[in-house]
Parts: sequence; structure tokens; C-alpha cells
Amino acid sequence: MSLFTIDPKKCKRDGICAAVCPAQIIIQKDKKSFPSMLAGGEEFCINCGHCVAVCPHGAMALATMTAEGCPPIDKSLLPTALALKHLLQARRSVRQYKKTPVSRKLLMALLDTARFAPTGSNKQQVHWTVFSKPDEVHKLAAMVIDFIKTMLPVTTDEAAVRRFRRIVSAWESGRDRIMRGAPHLIVAHSPSDLSFPAADCAIALTYLELYAYTQGLGTCWAGYFTGAAGLHEPLIRALSLPAGHQCYGAVMLGYPQYRYHRIPGRNEAQINWR
Ligand SMILES: Cc1cc2nc3c(=O)[nH]c(=O)nc-3n(C[C@H](O)[C@H](O)[C@H](O)COP(=O)(O)O)c2cc1C
Repeated sequence: MSLFTIDPKKCKRDGICAAVCPAQIIIQKDKKSFPSMLAGGEEFCINCGHCVAVCPHGAMALATMTAEGCPPIDKSLLPTALALKHLLQARRSVRQYKKTPVSRKLLMALLDTARFAPTGSNKQQVHWTVFSKPDEVHKLAAMVIDFIKTMLPVTTDEAAVRRFRRIVSAWESGRDRIMRGAPHLIVAHSPSDLSFPAADCAIALTYLELYAYTQGLGTCWAGYFTGAAGLHEPLIRALSLPAGHQCYGAVMLGYPQYRYHRIPGRNEAQINWR
């Protein structure tokens, strides 16, 4: 089966599909010709679907996706610039959670949205491990604490040592500064031999966080966990990620105990205009 097909009855030979193809494997010889594929182009297609999505006439189909299978963009559903900016400014890292679990359906909706995040070469290799048993999340936090304890004697940065000591002492007095008592932990992992696995996972997690906020949920990056996840053997074993995978980020998730009412200040953008 060919990589893509063009419906000659619908195609207006406007060349837009050829113009947007990131791999430049769609060619249009002249204004009278239908677009066609560069010889051997299959090898370079990244299956991004731009040719299908950009055609105003629904004339293009990839072997993996038809125009009918790609939902139309409903402009009335797009947020205004002001609404989106406000959302981006209003999201906060949440560190106090209710015990109420998040339903599998809602977790699924978050992950289903995050899969639309961009990935290097459209690899779409962000995988997820979702922890939903508070006991297990707590056990993971305990392993991170063990890891921090092993790091303490070999850490030379005094500020880091003071921070680690405070985290361990909080843990010993029953306060979890690793997972913050969150009922869920969502771990993003990818094969480590991709071009940009860390960026892929971070962007997907950011999509997830923002969408979670619109669903009344709270999230917070689990940085200490992420740091330990690739280094602490017991934690590596507990995660049991697929072979060749590495954890590139994780967020705690749950219903927030408190709501934020204001947008805190942030540094001005640091820009070098050239
Ligand atoms: C990569 C990364 C790692 C983080 N790790 C932690 C963490 O381990 N624990 C925590 O409480 N917050 C963590 N945070 C949250 C930051 O502290 C938070 O984003 C920052 O203070 C700004 O607050 P805001 O997210 O509400 O704007 C992390 C954030 C990022 C981006």
C-alpha cells in the first residue's frame, strides 16, 4: 500500500501539502500536476499527518490516517489569547492534596490529551507509569529518602546538604516533602536512545499538568523522585521500566486542598535581542 493517496476529485492542486511536509517528500511538479511522492520518500515520512490536516479539501489520506479520521478544528472551542495566557499564569504547583482518588476515566483523559504534545521527529515514544495506590506512592517517597541519605555524605555543596537534611528530618517527623502525600504519581519515561527523550517527556508532562488544572486537579513536578529514579537501584527495580527506558520526569497528582486566588510575581523575561 502506498504511503499516501490523493483523491483527484477533491484535490485542487494548490500544493499546500507539499509546502508543509516537514520531510519534503511530497512534490508537485507544476500547478497542473497532482502532488506525488518523492522516490523512496517512505523512509523519511515521520507520519506527522500535516499533509492530511492542512488540506482544505480533505483530498489527502495517509496509509495510517484518513481525513475523515482526523477531527476538524472547531475554532469556537479555541481559548482566546487572554484566556490561555491567564491559564498559563494561574496554574500552580500543588503540594497539599485531598485523599480523594482521581478516577481512572479522568486519569485516562489526561494521558489522552498529553499524547498530542510535540515530540522530536514525531516519535511519540513518551510512555507512562501511573501509580494510584497511595501506599505505593509513599513507598517510592521512602526510597527517595533512602537515596538522599546515601547522597548526604558525598555531597559537597553546603546548600544542598542543608536542604537534604531538612527533607530527611521532615520525613522522620512524618512530613513527606518528596511526594507531598499525593494519591497519584505519573511517571513519564522514554527509550533513552531517542534524540530528545527529556524534552519529549517534559513537554508531555506540561500538557498533562495544564489540562489537569482545567479539570480541577493539582499537580507538582516530583524533582527529587526524578533525580533518584535513574540512580537508586532499589527505586530502579521498583519502577521496572521497559528495557532501555529512562524516567525523564514525573508529577504528583490529586485534588488540591487549597485554591490559589492570585498570580504570584515572576522574574522579567531575560532576553538577549540579536
Ligand atoms: C523540573 C522541576 C522539578 C521540580 N521538583 C519539585 C519537587 O521535587 N518538589 C516540589 O515541591 N516542587 C518541585 N517543583 C516545583 C517548583 O518548585 C515550582 O514549579 C516553582 O516553585 C514555581 O511554582 P509554580 O509551579 O507554582 O509556578 C519542580 C518543578 C520543576 C519544573
